[in-house]
Amino acid sequence: MKKNNNDKVNICVVGAGYVGLVSGACLAETGHRVVCVDSDPKKIALLEKGVMPIYEEGLEKVVKRNVKAGRLFFTTSIKGGMLHGGRRAEAIFIAVGTPPREDGSADLSDVEKVAEEIARNMSGYTVIVEKSTVPVETCEWINKTVARHNKNHIPFDVASNPEFLREGTAVKDFLEPDRVVLGCPSKQCETVLRRIYKAMKGATVLVTDVKSAELIKHASNSFLAAKISFINAVARVCEKTGADVEMVARGMGLDKRIGASFLKAGIGFGGFCFPKDLEAFYWLSHRKGYNFELLKAVKEINEDAKLWLVRKVQDELWNLEGKTVALLGLAFKPETDDMRFAPSIDIIAEFRKLGAKVRAYDPVSQENARRVIQGIYFAEDAYDCVAGADCVCLVTEWKEFAGLDMKKILALLKHPIMIDGRNLYTPSKMRELGFTYKSVGRQ
Ligand SMILES: NC(=O)c1ccc[n+]([C@@H]2O[C@H](COP(=O)([O-])OP(=O)(O)OC[C@H]3O[C@@H](n4cnc5c(N)ncnc54)[C@H](O)[C@@H]3O)[C@@H](O)[C@H]2O)c1
Repeated sequence: MKKNNNDKVNICVVGAGYVGLVSGACLAETGHRVVCVDSDPKKIALLEKGVMPIYEEGLEKVVKRNVKAGRLFFTTSIKGGMLHGGRRAEAIFIAVGTPPREDGSADLSDVEKVAEEIARNMSGYTVIVEKSTVPVETCEWINKTVARHNKNHIPFDVASNPEFLREGTAVKDFLEPDRVVLGCPSKQCETVLRRIYKAMKGATVLVTDVKSAELIKHASNSFLAAKISFINAVARVCEKTGADVEMVARGMGLDKRIGASFLKAGIGFGGFCFPKDLEAFYWLSHRKGYNFELLKAVKEINEDAKLWLVRKVQDELWNLEGKTVALLGLAFKPETDDMRFAPSIDIIAEFRKLGAKVRAYDPVSQENARRVIQGIYFAEDAYDCVAGADCVCLVTEWKEFAGLDMKKILALLKHPIMIDGRNLYTPSKMRELGFTYKSVGRQ
């Protein structure tokens, strides 16, 4: 990517997680000088040693290249990140977590803490950029918070710049986005943000008011979640009528108005974005006096999609007490180690509630899974996972599972039962091999 010295911006990114670290590294890649801040000293220590705290394709190379070039730095101190190597950050991105509370609302306490700390350390006009996914009106709260703690009356703006990257393809998504949304309260702020994103030439830059930018993120994620739930509901109808959901999705997707993406039937969506953003959007709409029933239905269909897998196992094995179920995959999708809100967590809980023993294997997320799932056997590999199990369920469509030696799997299983929660395999081939094979919305 072409770098122009005049457009270089000193940037501080607070929160070096999936979004903050990828954003920081990629902004450095486009020529800016970036300091990534994280309150977790272990994360910063790893990054300083060149070890990535998350699994993300291509990230390590970008981080190492930019550290070497003197464009990317790490620290645990917001103050140290805002004034680093004698240079003051013109823009500070807030990329901390916004996890869901019990009632579905977003917990914005980390955002507030960061806003206070930024306010105490500003020394010249600063653009504070809300990158985390937050409900509409959060920037207004950040504005009030910063104003309250801004004792020296330093000028500042609070902008909304939602992030649309996907885990697994995050580096590519950040460097080659479809669109960059900039919710800017002033021309001065817009100028700084346009300089920051100047290198992303292929992307449409949409400048909006701050509230619309905030809403674009929640509305986009909820819409995508709705598409997934829609096709999962269609899959149920296909199962009842003898139609094939893959064919139906193909036929629907050829219509340009609909598009083919996010029409893959399966056992539901998970991850740190869709479930919590859907909840937060519903909660906020409700609080503002609008009952967004559609979002409720999207969530209910998704909960049912997870339990579909358990029902299919029951259809084959009857009582699950004392039986052993093998799960291939734990991450909410392939190419990520992220276990947050992975459907596997609820599925395993349901199997265990019904008295089944669970063996599981995931090529990448196993370590993270051990922290959130107890009482199951974590296998060495896919073959160890299915050994002696009464049936096997495909939970995450990792590439390595597509290439498994199915004859070996058959020989290791107690009964030749495969429940494919992601429609990874071809039904006719699986049956030829001798499997009792069930998949989503297909006969
Ligand atoms: N993960 C995704 O795919 C994705 C995509 C788009 C948007 N988002 C949104 O981006 C935000 C961040 O998500 P994430 O997946 O990167 O979360 P994450 O948990 O991976 O990262 C958040 C980081 O912030 C750090 N942090 C928390 N409080 C801090 C503080 N006071 N000072 C400094 N650091 C602090 C944490 O230690 C953590 O490393 C969320 O709002 C999420 O919804 C996520």
